[in-house]
Amino acid sequence: MSLITSPPTLPLVAPSILSADFSRLGDECTSVIECGADLLHLDVMDGHFVPNLTMGPALCKSLRSTLPDVYLDVHLMVNSPMMYIEPFAGAGANMFTAHIEANVDPLELADAIHAAGMDAGLAINPPTEVESILPYIEAFDLILVMSVNPGFSGQAFIPEVLEKVVTVRKQLRPNQRLQMDGGVGLTTCVACRDAGCDVLVAASAIFGTTDYESSIAALRGI
Ligand code: DX5
Ligand code: ZN
Repeated sequence: MSLITSPPTLPLVAPSILSADFSRLGDECTSVIECGADLLHLDVMDGHFVPNLTMGPALCKSLRSTLPDVYLDVHLMVNSPMMYIEPFAGAGANMFTAHIEANVDPLELADAIHAAGMDAGLAINPPTEVESILPYIEAFDLILVMSVNPGFSGQAFIPEVLEKVVTVRKQLRPNQRLQMDGGVGLTTCVACRDAGCDVLVAASAIFGTTDYESSIAALRGI
């Protein structure tokens, strides 16, 4: 079930459930998977690292129970990511991504995530210089380049971050992924793919449409 072992020939598409109808969350998640999504992206926010509150391990556990075979990609926008590694591993998460801006030792973070049995991701916000993550890329399975300032879905894509993607891509092994998250839609996805992203996260551009299958295919570039 790991996304990491086989490099995709087309970008993977990861719906962010932040824009799903929470009153029908199981059905929404089942629907996007049936419509071609490769994994589900869960945005966890603590009201401190970002000015919003969203979801925690209990929701992850429910989705794991409803969708036993789906890859669950958890994006932590929190101040103390280390304390959530075990809870999310126990809740069935497959990928645990935390931010360089959360001020944890990136190598300790990657080791702890791997020891808990998950794939490890490292995220970088738009204002942060790419040099801050370059020494640590080798330790992670996925690098997440944020293309909005995190906190909310539906924001405009920041094109300047594409330079970071080009820089990071040059350092990646074939079994590492490069993810873009924020403002990825039918027009901006082209530049993301061209720059070397192979996992595209989208909330509004999927859940904000009525035809999930067409939206997912268009993001993928088919
Ligand atoms: C932003 C989150 C994103 C967000 C994307 O803080 O990390 O995953 O849900 O939403 P869209 O695709 O609408 O920009
Ligand atoms: Zn996210």
